[in-house]
Amino acid sequence: MDTVNHRLPLPYTLCIIACFFLGPLENAISAERTTYIVHMDKSFKPESSTTHKHWYSSIVDSLNGDTHSSFLAGRSLTTTPSLLYTYDDAVHGFSASLSLEELENLKKSPGFVSAYSDKTATVDTTHTTDFLSLNPSTGLWPASNYGEDIIVGVVDSGVWPESESFKGHGMTAKIPSKWKGTCEEGQEFNASLCNLKLIGARYFNKGVIAANPNTTLTMNSARDTGGHGTHTSSTVAGNYVDDVSFFGYAEGTARGVAPRSRVAVYKVLWDEGRYASDVLAGIDQAIADGVDVISISIGFDNVPLYEDPIAVASFAAMEKGVVLSSSAGNMGPELGTLHNGIPWVLTVAAGTMDRSFAGTLTLGNGLTLVGFTLFPAKAIVIDSPLVHNKTFSACNSSRLLSEASPESIVICDETWPVRDQIRQVTAARLAGAIFISNSTRVGYFTCPGAVISPRDAYKVIKYVKGSENPTVSIKFQETFLGTKPAPLAAMYTSRGPSPSYPNILKPDIMAPGDLVLAAYVPSNAKGVIGTNVFLSSDYVLLSGTSMSCPHASGVAALLKSAHPDWSPAAIRSAMMTTANPLDNTQNPIRDYDLEFASPLAIGSGQIDPNRALDPGLIYDATPQDYVNLLSSLNFTRNQILAITRSEAYNLSSPSSDLNYPSFIALYDNQTTTSRVQKFERVVTNVGDGAAKYKVSATAPEGSEVTVIPETLVFLNKYEKQSYSLSIKYGWDSRGRASFGAIVWVEEDGNHTVRSPIVVSPVI
Ligand SMILES: *[C@@H]1O[C@H](CO)[C@@H](O)[C@H](O)[C@H]1NC(C)=O
Ligand SMILES: *[C@@H]1O[C@H](CO)[C@@H](O)[C@H](O)[C@H]1NC(C)=O
Ligand SMILES: *[C@@H]1O[C@H](CO)[C@@H](O)[C@H](O)[C@H]1NC(C)=O
Ligand SMILES: *[C@@H]1O[C@H](CO)[C@@H](O)[C@H](O)[C@H]1NC(C)=O
Ligand SMILES: *[C@@H]1O[C@H](CO)[C@@H](O)[C@H](O)[C@H]1NC(C)=O
Ligand SMILES: *[C@@H]1O[C@H](CO)[C@@H](O)[C@H](O)[C@H]1NC(C)=O
Ligand SMILES: *[C@@H]1O[C@H](CO)[C@@H](O)[C@H](O)[C@H]1NC(C)=O
Ligand SMILES: *[C@@H]1O[C@H](CO)[C@@H](O)[C@H](O)[C@H]1NC(C)=O
Repeated sequence: MDTVNHRLPLPYTLCIIACFFLGPLENAISAERTTYIVHMDKSFKPESSTTHKHWYSSIVDSLNGDTHSSFLAGRSLTTTPSLLYTYDDAVHGFSASLSLEELENLKKSPGFVSAYSDKTATVDTTHTTDFLSLNPSTGLWPASNYGEDIIVGVVDSGVWPESESFKGHGMTAKIPSKWKGTCEEGQEFNASLCNLKLIGARYFNKGVIAANPNTTLTMNSARDTGGHGTHTSSTVAGNYVDDVSFFGYAEGTARGVAPRSRVAVYKVLWDEGRYASDVLAGIDQAIADGVDVISISIGFDNVPLYEDPIAVASFAAMEKGVVLSSSAGNMGPELGTLHNGIPWVLTVAAGTMDRSFAGTLTLGNGLTLVGFTLFPAKAIVIDSPLVHNKTFSACNSSRLLSEASPESIVICDETWPVRDQIRQVTAARLAGAIFISNSTRVGYFTCPGAVISPRDAYKVIKYVKGSENPTVSIKFQETFLGTKPAPLAAMYTSRGPSPSYPNILKPDIMAPGDLVLAAYVPSNAKGVIGTNVFLSSDYVLLSGTSMSCPHASGVAALLKSAHPDWSPAAIRSAMMTTANPLDNTQNPIRDYDLEFASPLAIGSGQIDPNRALDPGLIYDATPQDYVNLLSSLNFTRNQILAITRSEAYNLSSPSSDLNYPSFIALYDNQTTTSRVQKFERVVTNVGDGAAKYKVSATAPEGSEVTVIPETLVFLNKYEKQSYSLSIKYGWDSRGRASFGAIVWVEEDGNHTVRSPIVVSPVI
């Protein structure tokens, strides 16, 4: 599920087995077709073709199926190449099912830029919400009218349209006139399911069908079956729904980050597979439909920028002023594991919240302890006998456990994974158990129970040993707020540097992603009691960067509503330079292991929407700036054209020094003598008028940072000033990343504009 299946095109794998033995069949076998994504240069479109669609389909028709292919045609091989999608907004080109021979012919067509086989996407769910200080009285919510008039396109697994989160109550009647989308009918989905909240729903299945020709899709429409898309889209812009909970936990009012924005869903993830060609088609349509923000909680691992459908499609989005917010991935905590590390998108990491789900344990001696539980019911555990002995304590055998009296609560030692112990205790049909572990990632609580820390366990075991009839009571369905420290970087959140472009610090920002409550599909079990009682819930807790990304997408929607003239780079800059590097104990944010978290894990820090509304200074970037960056890479003209789609850009001013609100300097084991990397930056004053800023720098350990000038004076709003920053650094024999920051502090004002600095090994 989490790794991209970088398959060889089928003809290669077949030939390894078949061509060797069956030489004469070679031609026939080459008729086996694979889906390719093909980039074209539209300036080659002949006059005779009226539209790009017409041009592409005549090219594909002219490729002419292999003459030997009828031999195998009976075995479900198509005899002619077929066009799946034509793309025009995100990409110039199409996807088509082609044989190797047809692909070779295609490469000779005028206007051919590049082609690569379809890829599968990674979904960023592991499991996890919202303490972002959004409030009705001040800050970004009232300033943006809660995101009114903004349309968010969610490219995901579709939507459960009946969910309360997608009802239209409270939404203004006038859908923005730029909206060109539609509510597409399909299996169990008719157009009357859309409304003033859910304004669009479309689905893209040609890639998944081409890859699985014999499969019948379980739900051939925009209806969500997996739950991922319903969860992410309600997190961005779900309507207000009172009194929801996850089986009694996290009770309260559900609402998206931008509760008055409209939602349009583009289903590209299927139970049967997740393909780049469908993802491209979804983003292409979202741009054409007129969305303002695209939220995409999926990514493609280990692909170069010019073959990454999200990198390619998001360039077109950026040119049109559409903000694309994406998930960093769940492959942490190792460095260099991140996806969507694309210079022109927002890349979002996941952190925890100040909320915990608990069961309070009261021992017979009156001692109370707080454990972690999500047992999905109010089980009665009152003065139950508490058992701790050698026979049971591994909790790895239901046979042994069933020797305990059925009303007992057993204590399970730390020797065995809690996930397995829960299974054994459930199978033994005991009243419940207390598990000892530092981790709360334990799967479903199928039996009543709670997880306690090894330190608390010591007190419990001591009590049991010293008591003749030890007992325990457990209270379930408790939710506590104010957990400290929070946020922490989630262990799983993928870390930079970005494999596809390490010279820009990624991820950009962290948002809540751990145990986030949002809408879900009623058809999937999200709780189990015993071995065979499956429970559904309309709102569930999930964790992952899939859940953090839509929080940032929601903030982008609010900022876009408050500042309609800001570019995607300006919106990203506002979020990054105002992000909070401190946790709720006012110390630097920590990683899951309680070490200080590096910007390679959390970017600029925890997203702070109210401060992002008024950042003081902005680091802007134009499409040409990104092209200058692309020109500085070792890419061919066609690789660049696959991304930019246009010859109009100037490729003769290469620069890898993008005007980005963060800094990264890389070293390898050749960097033994100290080295200096210099960055140039331009900041725009978006404060109310004249302002003066002074720099304050904290150098990463073992390096020196110089900023020139140290004071920036602005006489007017929108005035620009530039500065340079140099890092003098060397090789770190421990191979560690070190980090610091610069902060531009306004004199006689409230703005502080912060950028992290990282010195990192090359990964
Ligand atoms: C659309 O579906 C809803 C619910 O399934 C149903 O009540 C309604 O009659 C359908 N409308 C049309 C036009 O088919
Ligand atoms: C599709 O089904 C046919 C007939 O059942 C079978 O021969 C063929 O191998 C299948 N193709 C794939 C790609 O599974
Ligand atoms: C259960 O755990 C104990 C102690 O760790 C071990 O000796 C025993 O082999 C385990 N039993 C099973 C069935 O894995
Ligand atoms: C659990 O956490 C404590 C305190 O943080 C630590 O000392 C101990 O080594 C941890 N145990 C495990 C098994 O990780
Ligand atoms: C640049 O690309 C060429 C051709 O693709 C390759 O041979 C060369 O090694 C690359 N150089 C670097 C520095 O990556
Ligand atoms: C492209 O940029 C270079 C360097 O900035 C400049 O000299 C040249 O005139 C530009 N070319 C075009 C066609 O604008
Ligand atoms: C530097 O790293 C490379 C690749 O990891 C390795 O092959 C090489 O031996 C290293 N050189 C030194 C001097 O450590
Ligand atoms: C700036 O801070 C001062 C003191 O904390 C406060 O009174 C004032 O309202 C703030 N101004 C703005 C624009 O937030």
